[in-house]
Amino acid sequence: MHSYLYRGNALFTFALTVLAFMCGIASLTDNFNSPSPTSEVQVLNINWFQKKPDGDDEISLTLNVSADLQSLFTWNTKQVFVFLAAEYETPKNSLNQVSLWDGIIPTKQHAAFRIHTANKYRFIDQGSNLRGKEFNLTLHWHVMPKTGKMFADKLVMTGFRLPDSYR
Ligand SMILES: *[C@@H]1O[C@H](CO)[C@@H](O)[C@H](O)[C@H]1NC(C)=O
Ligand SMILES: *[C@@H]1O[C@H](CO)[C@@H](O)[C@H](O)[C@H]1NC(C)=O
Repeated sequence: MHSYLYRGNALFTFALTVLAFMCGIASLTDNFNSPSPTSEVQVLNINWFQKKPDGDDEISLTLNVSADLQSLFTWNTKQVFVFLAAEYETPKNSLNQVSLWDGIIPTKQHAAFRIHTANKYRFIDQGSNLRGKEFNLTLHWHVMPKTGKMFADKLVMTGFRLPDSYR
């Protein structure tokens, strides 16, 4: 009985050691993968653009987002969280970041996609800074691995500009 328990324990310890080793290798090999995601975003339409009664600007856009994030997926990838943000400067803040759309990509097969959508979250400025505003659209991703550390990165698409007047 005693030696049976002891053997079980030794086996368990060995299994744990192997598991820890595999996890180490998993996150290590993951670091050698240098992903090269691509994305392209177009603003297809300004649906409306107004100053709200409280004085803050709000705009509604229709976006054409295409992205290929397949290279983020390795066998150690659990899922990828992705969001598209409008980023711009105002006199008060050097970076204003407004999330316009997000999604969770469960598998590599879903990682090359195209969506045609109005902004999912409201594009509101903390003030009335949006007329004629130059902005970037930035695709951010957070890769959640099965084991090891989460990592995040982004792609910046520059050169967008909002209309000069409300409509
Ligand atoms: C959306 O973008 C893709 C490529 O990124 C392009 O092929 C397609 O024509 C665009 N759709 C519209 C409606 O502009
Ligand atoms: C857009 O991104 C570029 C490159 O990261 C940066 O130099 C520029 O200041 C950004 N523009 C705005 C309006 O935030």
